[in-house]
Amino acid sequence: MAKQFRVLGVPLPTKQLGDVIPVPAVVRPVTTTTFTIVSSTRVSTVPEAEAVAGRLAAGLSTATGLPVTTGDGGSIRLSLDPGLGAEAYRLEITAGAVTLTGGSPQGLFWGVQTILQLECGGVLPGGVIEDRPRFPYRGAMLDLARHFFTADEIKAHIDQLVPFKINHLHLHLTDDQGWRLEIPGRPRLTEIGGGPGTGVDGAGPGFLTTAAYAEVVAYAADRFVGIVPEIDMPGHVNAAQVAYPELTADGQPVAPRTDTAVGYSSLPAGPETTYAFVEDVIRTVADLTPGPYLHIGGDECHSTPAADYRAFLERVLPIPAKYGKTVIGWHEIAAVDLPDHVVVQYWRPEADDAGTARAAAEGRRVIMSPADRVYLDMKYDADTPLGLDWAGLIGVERAYDWDPADRLPGVDEESLLGVEAPLWSETLRSVDDVHRMTFPRLPAVAEVAWSPRAARDWPSFRERLAAYGPRWDAAGVDYYRSPEIDWR
Ligand code: ACM
Repeated sequence: MAKQFRVLGVPLPTKQLGDVIPVPAVVRPVTTTTFTIVSSTRVSTVPEAEAVAGRLAAGLSTATGLPVTTGDGGSIRLSLDPGLGAEAYRLEITAGAVTLTGGSPQGLFWGVQTILQLECGGVLPGGVIEDRPRFPYRGAMLDLARHFFTADEIKAHIDQLVPFKINHLHLHLTDDQGWRLEIPGRPRLTEIGGGPGTGVDGAGPGFLTTAAYAEVVAYAADRFVGIVPEIDMPGHVNAAQVAYPELTADGQPVAPRTDTAVGYSSLPAGPETTYAFVEDVIRTVADLTPGPYLHIGGDECHSTPAADYRAFLERVLPIPAKYGKTVIGWHEIAAVDLPDHVVVQYWRPEADDAGTARAAAEGRRVIMSPADRVYLDMKYDADTPLGLDWAGLIGVERAYDWDPADRLPGVDEESLLGVEAPLWSETLRSVDDVHRMTFPRLPAVAEVAWSPRAARDWPSFRERLAAYGPRWDAAGVDYYRSPEIDWR
């Protein structure tokens, strides 16, 4: 086993080179070598990566209590090699130097996450890591509609996603209960839909102003995380219809709803008022969002006749492209003929879906989010106080031990854009609630999305997760101490 170092009398095991979540693609340890951080340690870099170098220096300073700074001639060196691929990095640790090469500043940033996980008691284990993601899209989703979370709370959540190399945060911004993003041309959406009592069972209020949303987008971008905004339609629209009764089929007002039923509301497919509204909202959200994706929902439209659903999507699916965005939709949208480039997000627990398979056969990409594996709002076990159980109980091993390329007939490795772990917030009222459902399952899903399939191994993951627990303790993250893991 690992050598023991003592810091202030507390024994700290040194890390092995592969003790990282998600496990890197290639790990070549040199067990006789370590690099020791001292008070004169500096991080040097190329100009394009100064911000990333600053984050590494700050992270190492916090972890070691030593004044690690950036500057020329450092023993920790960051450089770029675009030939590696944008998100890839190579890390070499010798006794005298740490050399991190990234395919881009983003690849360097993921390498920095690896270094920060490997650091223990001021020591880094020797050897070489060569790493790159299996899938380009590695996501988490947070539902702001059922219970609202502030910009600061979302930022705190992003801080905890980044160590696991998650590169997209999908925000579910609108639903039957509430509307959580200001649309300046339609002020009643948030005046009413973000007002008091709009959370489940009357919780609330809250919404992101355009300035607060921009702040979240910028904070995420600084950490190489893209925000994916979702405006759910044509169903899940009761809050919009409460705010603007002209969006109902008969133009009559509807009552606010804060229960958790689904499938009862729908934008009517006939009237032009529907499409004027949709265009206004999509244009605004596209303008506020620098990333490539805009999610239009499309799920659980149980009260929308099939012909209306088709007519609605035929009008709406081309709109985001006019504003430079690629559409993502829940997989129900694959029942209709889709424009090219639409991304289908599979979510049901069933192991089959003809529409998604057809979309994949026609060359469209799929994000895999099967509810029975990666829905972070499902209870861990029968005793979990928070969460739901309609897709089953999801322990840590269940979230880990599956493969996205085996999940749906007709959807293989080449069709997959990636994997996303959604977190619906019907029962979640605080960041602590969010963290308790997210951790430790999100790291399991992150490893499914990042690491080569052949490198994944549950006994190894279990050990690495146990070793991560003290980091959450130190950061005040209220994770679930699952009995599946031998926590330290
Ligand atoms: C969903 O869970 N309704 C996408």
